[in-house]
Amino acid sequence: MTSLSGITPSGRLTLGNHLGALRRFTDPDGFYFVANLHAMTTKHDPRRLVALTREMATLMLAAGLPPGTVFIQSDVPAHAQLAYLLECTSYVGELSRMIQYKEKGNGRPMTRASLFTYPCLMAADILLYGTDRVPVGGDQDQHVELARDVAVRFNREYGETFVVPQLQKAALAMRIKDLQNPTAKMSKSDEDNAVGTIRLLDPPDVIRRQVMRAVTDSGGEVRHDEAAKPGITNLLEILAACTDGDPVELAKAYPTYGALKADTADAVLAVIEPLQKEYARLASDPVAVDDLLAEGRDRAIEASRPRLQAAVHAMGLAGSGG
Ligand code: TYM
Repeated sequence: MTSLSGITPSGRLTLGNHLGALRRFTDPDGFYFVANLHAMTTKHDPRRLVALTREMATLMLAAGLPPGTVFIQSDVPAHAQLAYLLECTSYVGELSRMIQYKEKGNGRPMTRASLFTYPCLMAADILLYGTDRVPVGGDQDQHVELARDVAVRFNREYGETFVVPQLQKAALAMRIKDLQNPTAKMSKSDEDNAVGTIRLLDPPDVIRRQVMRAVTDSGGEVRHDEAAKPGITNLLEILAACTDGDPVELAKAYPTYGALKADTADAVLAVIEPLQKEYARLASDPVAVDDLLAEGRDRAIEASRPRLQAAVHAMGLAGSGG
């Protein structure tokens, strides 16, 4: 069983990224990476990308991921190499149906071609390592489904090469919502939204204030009801995810919105503060961070080589000596 997942450095990490993905990156044999190639599918600033990549990699290490599992995607050229091979097995029809492409690009002539082929890169990420589990939040389901389709098709057309991955859904925190707009996902790329997005490296007093100011719903009753009470339901989901509780059960313990908010703020900080401390320690030791990332890179290069080679041969690309 191998678990793999990536996070795109398109903004600073949020509580949603942590609860939906990062804290589930626990497999000692797993592969967890900063998906910096994915961050170039929309207009980007190279200097900012370098800084965000470093911050994210350090935060992943600070989250206590198993040693040797963390790396930076562009350090392992096999990802881009296999992505091209998979583009040659994917269809315009299926890529056009991707929600992310439709939302961010479709129809605009200045959309980057890489936004369209992005799911092939993500499929390459997953298939290179014989991954069978992909811990992601709910917004990535469609991409993992595509990776499954691509693997099945490749194996059928070119011979058994790839493991077909499972989608590993989180029981909770599938989709943490924005605190100010609780029908929308909390998103790291929403840079203008300082109030509704909890960033893992924001000062604790700012985070507490954000939770206390979260939009609530009319009526004063605390109840888990996504349709009628999206704001309260989101707070209950966050509280439950941070305390390993059950959001429906937890609702019964709170007579008022205020009490729920105060406990949610405490629970969020109990998760975030140790992470911030470890981040500060690691960030002050850049050589140690470099060493840990080099270890992850070398292991990923080794582990990805056989499947890339197998795919190269299967597709008829055996070159000199191959
Ligand atoms: P990205 O960077 O948008 O998000 C990283 C992870 O965080 C999860 N997530 C959330 N979970 C719960 N609530 C939220 N509000 C929330 N926002 C984000 C995402 O579901 C994701 O698991 N394409 C991917 C990165 C990627 C990848 C991969 C993932 C590249 N290659 C291979 C898995 C396997 C992305 O942009 O995620």
